[in-house]
Amino acid sequence: MSQTTAAQTTAAHTSAAHTSAAHTSAAQTSAAQTSARRTGAARTGAAEVSLYGGPAGRRVRVHHLRAAKERGERWPMLTAYDQYAAEIFDEAGVPVLLVGDSAANNVFGYESTLRVRVEELLPLVGAVVRATRRALVVADLPFGSYQGSPEQALATSVRFMQEAGAHAVKLEGGSRVLPQVAAIVGAGIPVMAHLGFTPQSEHGLGGYRVQGRADAGDELLRDAVALQEAGAFAVVLEMVPAEVAKRITGELAVPTIGIGAGVDCDAQVLVWQDMAGLRGGPLPRFVKRYADLRGVLRGAVDSFAEEVRTGTYPGPEHSYL
Ligand code: KIV
Repeated sequence: MSQTTAAQTTAAHTSAAHTSAAHTSAAQTSAAQTSARRTGAARTGAAEVSLYGGPAGRRVRVHHLRAAKERGERWPMLTAYDQYAAEIFDEAGVPVLLVGDSAANNVFGYESTLRVRVEELLPLVGAVVRATRRALVVADLPFGSYQGSPEQALATSVRFMQEAGAHAVKLEGGSRVLPQVAAIVGAGIPVMAHLGFTPQSEHGLGGYRVQGRADAGDELLRDAVALQEAGAFAVVLEMVPAEVAKRITGELAVPTIGIGAGVDCDAQVLVWQDMAGLRGGPLPRFVKRYADLRGVLRGAVDSFAEEVRTGTYPGPEHSYL
């Protein structure tokens, strides 16, 4: 959970609380918000209520995320594509893990998310679900697996739930995917929406560009409200001006999850290899590197290779008598 100062805390969500009917009054929430932001949990009376909403070991459910928003409790989300990373993020208390179609770039080495297929993502989702005890695992519906029709979207979602054990699915787009969202939610499957820069539409959008500037901000807000009404339990806002994201966050009862959308979203998501410094090369402006895993791994490989070359590994302690 990112730490914020009391001033940031007030600025971040007090205004949201004023503008959203779903929020309780600022007076009721401000003390809990300040405490929650510092500790990652909210206090109600004597009991401490974590985002997980219950005893350790219980899965996060979508209603816990909505309750966290009502308490003004921010939460982190990360992508995960494999067992060990998922296990570590789950142990750290990251409440939502996304098996993103960004696996295209971060696992499979494709140049674009457009290339990854359902069959490639299914085993990754299964691995992440099996490695976690508490996190809500969201499966990203890849390009071409839901745009065709609500029926296609539902069929793909059922595969992720049934074959991989996902707890929710995510799809990209605004008004054009409302029938898809309604069909999936209608079958009892939670849907996370994704607005702003939507990588699956990179060619239509003319490349990686900030979305929602000027009048387009109103359209984004309309889309976000429509997605909430269609049943989406959260909305990712990618590369959206901070003020627009703040406005949307204030209007929605469901959480917004920012990635390049400023500090006022209810949650923040990053691709884990970006966050932990495993990926090389230039990074988007919105990424903050919290570690240098690439450097650590390179150091380990160099040492191993050197010790093999010089005959210092394996030592007697690594050998059988
Ligand atoms: O696929 C992905 O990784 C994503 C996000 C980072 C939101 O969609």
